Amino acid sequence: MLLDLASSHKVLFFGGKGGVGKTTVSAATALATANAGGKVLLVSTDPAHNLGHLFARPVGPSPVRITAGLEAIELDPNESVETHIKEVSQALHQLMPVTQHGEIDKHMALSRDAPGMHEAALLERIADIVQDGIGSYDLIVFDTAPSGHTARLMVLPEMMSAWTEGLIKRREKADRFAEVVRDLGRDSSMQDKTVGGANLAEQEKESRIRQILLRRRHKFGHLRDTLSDKDLTSFVIVLAAERLPVLETIELHQQLCRIGVTVGGLVVNKRSPEQQGEFLAARRAQENKHLKTLDESLGVVPRQELALAGQDVVGLPALEVFSAALAKA
Ligand SMILES: Nc1ncnc2c1ncn2[C@@H]1O[C@H](COP(=O)(O)OP(=O)(O)O)[C@@H](O)[C@H]1O
Ligand SMILES: [Mg+2]
Repeated sequence: MLLDLASSHKVLFFGGKGGVGKTTVSAATALATANAGGKVLLVSTDPAHNLGHLFARPVGPSPVRITAGLEAIELDPNESVETHIKEVSQALHQLMPVTQHGEIDKHMALSRDAPGMHEAALLERIADIVQDGIGSYDLIVFDTAPSGHTARLMVLPEMMSAWTEGLIKRREKADRFAEVVRDLGRDSSMQDKTVGGANLAEQEKESRIRQILLRRRHKFGHLRDTLSDKDLTSFVIVLAAERLPVLETIELHQQLCRIGVTVGGLVVNKRSPEQQGEFLAARRAQENKHLKTLDESLGVVPRQELALAGQDVVGLPALEVFSAALAKA
């Protein structure tokens, strides 16, 4: 199921509760796809990164080569916030008169710690990665932070587009107003000249501003279109067969459906193996009970089970073994 999703989509998101195996399963899917000849980018958006730990090597905010066909990125929330603030400040400086620049800078400095800032900044980076990477990679895999965070992140493209749209509309209104004023002033050839001179500089500034806004609108529009296109993007929820992860999976599925993101699969990770003694048999029976709840609500969503391994999955060789099991399951 996982490998089919990976080969038939351009973007996969992995979400779910903390500790269920999002990083392990997303990295294994990325590795299996790269081993099959694909060019894959694995991106961690979780501020508590562990791709570096998993691959036993440093991974940072620019792509690092892990193995043939596989590159990885860990988005740095602080760096993303700084870049985001810089870009938004620049756009606002262009939009507002110089006298307002001090106020803008003060506001942006305060908003550095505002609620939602990290998500907005991360979203900006995700939008960049999707826009730049969709043509150059066969698959982009996002390993996301625990559930609530991810669902909030997924609604943001809508909000960011609306914000940018509002600014564009305001500019257009201001443009029309400026035109009317210019037309009113056009009563002598002398005036015409000066107004015309000022006009040119003014128009250049206007077109720069419009370009910034249109670029942003295009970027978030592109992300929203990509996320809601079920042929391009699929969301995979990873869970353990326990009460709370099952309930959270049902809730996350609902949230994602509401915002138009398709959940292409559920991965029940760390399943207790069969025929391994009484203790694990009892655990497995308990897990089956919880999976019944999942059947009742999400029986139609494709599901794959992955067995609990004897050891943690750390290092590329261990991940190779784990990813080989994806094809069998
Ligand atoms: N099927 C599995 N069997 C054994 N250990 C696993 C399995 N899947 C994940 N793990 C281990 O569980 C821990 C949490 O996994 P991780 O992928 O980091 O979860 P998440 O990203 O959802 O927080 C890690 O130590 C990982 O090696
Ligand atoms: Mg993780």
